[in-house]
Amino acid sequence: MSMKKKAEAALLAAHDLNELEELRIGLLGKKGELTAILRGMGGLSAEERPLIGQLANEVRAFIESELEKQKNILMSAARKEKLQAETLDVTMGGRTPRLGKLHPLTTVLNEVKDIFIGMGFSIVEGPEVEYDYFNFEALNIPADHPARDTQDTFYINDNVVLRSQTSSVQARVMQNQEPPIRVIAPGRVYRSDAVDATHSPVFHQIEGLVVDKGITMGDLKGTLEIFMKTLYGEDAVLRFRPHHFPFTEPSAEVDVSCFVCGGKGCRVCKGEGFIELLGAGMVHPRVLERCGIDPSVYSGFAFGLGLERIVMRRMSIDDMRLLYENDLRFLNQF
Ligand code: DAH
Repeated sequence: MSMKKKAEAALLAAHDLNELEELRIGLLGKKGELTAILRGMGGLSAEERPLIGQLANEVRAFIESELEKQKNILMSAARKEKLQAETLDVTMGGRTPRLGKLHPLTTVLNEVKDIFIGMGFSIVEGPEVEYDYFNFEALNIPADHPARDTQDTFYINDNVVLRSQTSSVQARVMQNQEPPIRVIAPGRVYRSDAVDATHSPVFHQIEGLVVDKGITMGDLKGTLEIFMKTLYGEDAVLRFRPHHFPFTEPSAEVDVSCFVCGGKGCRVCKGEGFIELLGAGMVHPRVLERCGIDPSVYSGFAFGLGLERIVMRRMSIDDMRLLYENDLRFLNQF
């Protein structure tokens, strides 16, 4: 068979581009047949040389054009195969991405914020690493008060603590803002407590503060009543018990009627009919004064409640630790 025929048959039989490249090297490469012929031309006579040279060039041109042809055929076949393999079936059912949801603490905090925003309050924040001054001193908490003990509060140094109450934000707001003041300050607080079902060294409080001319205990009671009824329903009844806080005078602890038994007494309220909910009172004149507000012109009320406590009661959670473990089997229930 002539070299042309042989080459043509071999090229047509090539299955893919790799095989084709191997053939090209075999036919036209340095060690190829054609190169061998050209190399041998030195031994030819002067008449033969141009004839054989011309023939060899013709064969080379033929093989090159056949190679190109075959290459195009194989390439378009490969492209077609690839397109078919990668076909998308747009009618196929998709995979729904799994949506996250809010943590119960966030859900309830958002509700509480909404209720107070509805009454004209603003949301403010303060630092968690706080000066002893704002956490204690400005709030009329004396140096020998048990809350200031290192047993109860985390100290960074003599003047800086991890705030033990969001009441620290009260002092900051009063120092920076002219009355009328109407704010709530939610946030993390820290206490040197051992972890158990109802204690955690880190938990959340929501502080409330109103300062204006002519604010009375009646405003405090009305505000908390609207808050509780919105949160627990119209039937909720509030009970104020006299108490002591250094930064309010008078001070009270506020209970809400048990939402399980409605006040009759049950296991949840331990037979009391009421559940303790928050601390509150009229801002102590000394606190107003220390924060640069004239107590002969202005008065105010304040309150502070624990977010975990509300969430646990709302969602019938009996162990606080569940709120911090981030176990999705637990969290997915809410
Ligand atoms: N800071 C108090 C606590 O952690 C709660 C509290 C009581 C806040 C009375 C107040 C208040 O603003 O008026 O126990």
